[in-house]
Amino acid sequence: MWHLRTLSLLLCTTLTQAKYIVPGARWHDTAGNLVNAHAGGITFDEETGKFWWFGEYKIEGQEEGGGVSCYSSEDLATWEAHGLALEPVKNHSFISPEHIIQRPKVVYSAEAGEYHMFWHADNSSYGWLLQGFATSDSVSGPYTFVNATAPMGNWSQDYGLFQDANDGRAYALYSNGDEKDGRDVYLTRYNADITELEEVVYRFDKFDLEAPTIIQTPGSYYALMSHKTGYRPNNVVAFRADSLSGPWSQPFMVAPLNTRTFNSQSGFSLKIVGSRRTTYLYIGDQWDSNSLWESRYIWLPVEIDEEKKSLELVWHDVYDLDVKTGEWAPVEGKTYSARHARTAGDAFKQEANFATDGVILTGIYGNDSTVTFEGIEGTGEPQWVSFYYQNTDDMGFGDQPGGSPDRIGGSWQLRRISSVVVNGDTAHVETLYQRDTHKGIILSTPLQLTLEKGKHNTITVGGLDNGFDYKGADLDRIVVYPPEK
Ligand SMILES: *[C@@H]1O[C@H](CO)[C@@H](O)[C@H](O)[C@H]1NC(C)=O
Ligand SMILES: *[C@@H]1O[C@H](CO)[C@@H](O)[C@H](O)[C@H]1NC(C)=O
Ligand SMILES: *[C@@H]1O[C@H](CO)[C@@H](O)[C@H](O)[C@H]1NC(C)=O
Ligand SMILES: *[C@@H]1O[C@H](CO)[C@@H](O)[C@H](O)[C@H]1NC(C)=O
Ligand SMILES: *[C@@H]1O[C@H](CO)[C@@H](O)[C@H](O)[C@H]1NC(C)=O
Repeated sequence: MWHLRTLSLLLCTTLTQAKYIVPGARWHDTAGNLVNAHAGGITFDEETGKFWWFGEYKIEGQEEGGGVSCYSSEDLATWEAHGLALEPVKNHSFISPEHIIQRPKVVYSAEAGEYHMFWHADNSSYGWLLQGFATSDSVSGPYTFVNATAPMGNWSQDYGLFQDANDGRAYALYSNGDEKDGRDVYLTRYNADITELEEVVYRFDKFDLEAPTIIQTPGSYYALMSHKTGYRPNNVVAFRADSLSGPWSQPFMVAPLNTRTFNSQSGFSLKIVGSRRTTYLYIGDQWDSNSLWESRYIWLPVEIDEEKKSLELVWHDVYDLDVKTGEWAPVEGKTYSARHARTAGDAFKQEANFATDGVILTGIYGNDSTVTFEGIEGTGEPQWVSFYYQNTDDMGFGDQPGGSPDRIGGSWQLRRISSVVVNGDTAHVETLYQRDTHKGIILSTPLQLTLEKGKHNTITVGGLDNGFDYKGADLDRIVVYPPEK
């Protein structure tokens, strides 16, 4: 398992950088490394004219306390790494590698003429529930620790930051922990120089939500938050209001039911004011609880209907965003359905009325029980290929009790893992992680593959070691996208 994973990481480092936005893919920076900025926030900086992405830096063996990483981009698709903006300090009382440094956000304080970073600061058993504060003269850092405090004396868990476009005032959003006294989400205004919280503007009482972010449109505020299910995704909800102090609406789900918000958790959102239109992006995390450092990012355009007072995430495997005009468009791909795939060994086609073509490919196991999509058209250049799958994970994993997420006491795991081989070249095996989807729910996960030019390519999918067995998820179809321009 580890070998294959390492291999695929090495292979990926040779790929070209992305210009499309591909939710859930392995994103690489301009140096070819995985973009390592989890549960992050993005700040548009007027001075540099760039987007700056700050997030939790996680590597194998150091999943917490790795500090805050920093990346810059002009197009939100090409990211340059700038190392750690907030570096852990050995033996420090708040930012040592033994401490929790989560959900960092950066805002420019015009009054103070410097950049301010805030995060959820905690000890390793989450017993403090504080907000950390650090400052820097330069957006990329290094940031210097100032203090870690209890906001208005209360607890603070997942941290979010919102700056109102109307008056530039900044607000902290934070869940006040899991205790019975807590389970609220606070919306609290900072003072003018953004150094200290001064007034609670609203409290989302007892909804027991976390990972908050606010999207501001000309007419509304939408506050998005997730339920508290650890690193397992759930149905993110939003509240709407005319004013930050409320009244806020009832919460409503923002993605199709049972997709668990396309397998992601909320945490941030971005408003892109272009010359032609304003686009709102949902900036979420697709956690991998088995290996947090391998977690991915789910960024999706948001559709807002102010008449209906609704907000919805729109899934696209691959989309093209122009940050200058604010316009975006899905990239059109070519679909190859399960019905026309070839099966080997015990893999077979099974009737499925929810499938695209009435059948789903199942029984994908190890090297022998595989499915092969044939006659695939390629260009000879790296192309994104999306694998639409269903992962019901209700088989109970051999002698493991209760594999299902819906089973009480279930030992649920986040994925099935498939091998993907192009044109029978088993020397190059790509790993495809297929997180749980619910029964009858089909989601997709992408890989960048290089197919030969022409219509004769094959893609073979088998099962890889997932810690219990060698099962891949069921497949509905694959979609092959044109190469980046
Ligand atoms: C950190 O603390 C330990 C134990 O108190 C001490 O032995 C060590 O020298 C300290 N390290 C630094 C860099 O201060
Ligand atoms: C974290 O802080 C809480 C509250 O002070 C304390 O009870 C707990 O023991 C601390 N955890 C660690 C690992 O020091
Ligand atoms: C944290 O530091 C800032 C900047 O010095 C200060 O304004 C603020 O009062 C401090 N917070 C607390 C609670 O001490
Ligand atoms: C935090 O706020 C809640 C209400 O939201 C209150 O019940 C609780 O006592 C407060 N906790 C602290 C430590 O102030
Ligand atoms: C798959 O093939 C590899 C290499 O031939 C072999 O080491 C491995 O045991 C096979 N796995 C299964 C589940 O058949």
